[in-house]
Amino acid sequence: MKIDNSAAAALHAPMTPVLEAILGTLPVPEGLLTDVGCGAGHKTALIRSTLNFAGPIVGIDCDRKALSAAARGGMWAIAGDAHMLPLRTACCDAAVCLATLGMLHDQRAALCELRRVVRLGGWLVIVTATTAWTFWSVRLRDWIQTVIAERERRGVDLLLTTPEPAADLAALLRDAGWREVRAGAFVIETGNEMSQRVLPLISQNDTRQLTQAEVREYDALVADADVELLPLMLVATGR
Ligand SMILES: C[S@@+](CC[C@H](N)C(=O)[O-])C[C@H]1O[C@@H](n2cnc3c(N)ncnc32)[C@H](O)[C@@H]1O
Repeated sequence: MKIDNSAAAALHAPMTPVLEAILGTLPVPEGLLTDVGCGAGHKTALIRSTLNFAGPIVGIDCDRKALSAAARGGMWAIAGDAHMLPLRTACCDAAVCLATLGMLHDQRAALCELRRVVRLGGWLVIVTATTAWTFWSVRLRDWIQTVIAERERRGVDLLLTTPEPAADLAALLRDAGWREVRAGAFVIETGNEMSQRVLPLISQNDTRQLTQAEVREYDALVADADVELLPLMLVATGR
């Protein structure tokens, strides 16, 4: 099935605030940044503006037609396979792999290749989608959204926790040689224009930090929560 550009943009819209938040925690690359699975380069402008990065970006993709569009957007666009990157060892300062990992038949091999081409100390950002059965009801999510908004006002950084749904991705990164791995899961909200479209899940670790009153409210909400299959965005970074 061919996805037109506007449908793809709507599909990827929840990624924007998450990418901005994650990129905002990382240093500006001093050299080359590679975008593996860059497609038509729809994220190039966002990456450049969020990182305030005017340096070289090399996009790798197996779709030559998409690469022509990517090249027009201000990157070097090279045809290649994420499992065997056409790049020299340690030639990159940073890498992103957005909405692509889930399409690969050997994710570990691709993460090892990314590790090979990014110099030691350089960083990687992965964003990929999945679904998970969870007991988070709409009501519970509304409440958590309120708590999170409150915590954000107080400057608590929930993005950098490692919620359970992202644990497998974090383990895969470590197994591929990445260190300082941070991972998080975000619920992709659908069908409600009024609500934020992405929402950090809080981990058991976070719940331990809640106040007694918040815990009582949490328990009451969990008690009547429905089980549901949630679309999740998993985000991970490594060095
Ligand atoms: C959903 S698109 C995401 C494009 C872009 N990263 C973005 O966020 O807009 C996934 C991209 O991965 C590419 N892709 C899939 N398998 C690949 C592989 N083995 N090697 C390189 N690129 C691949 C596809 O051609 C496609 O452009």
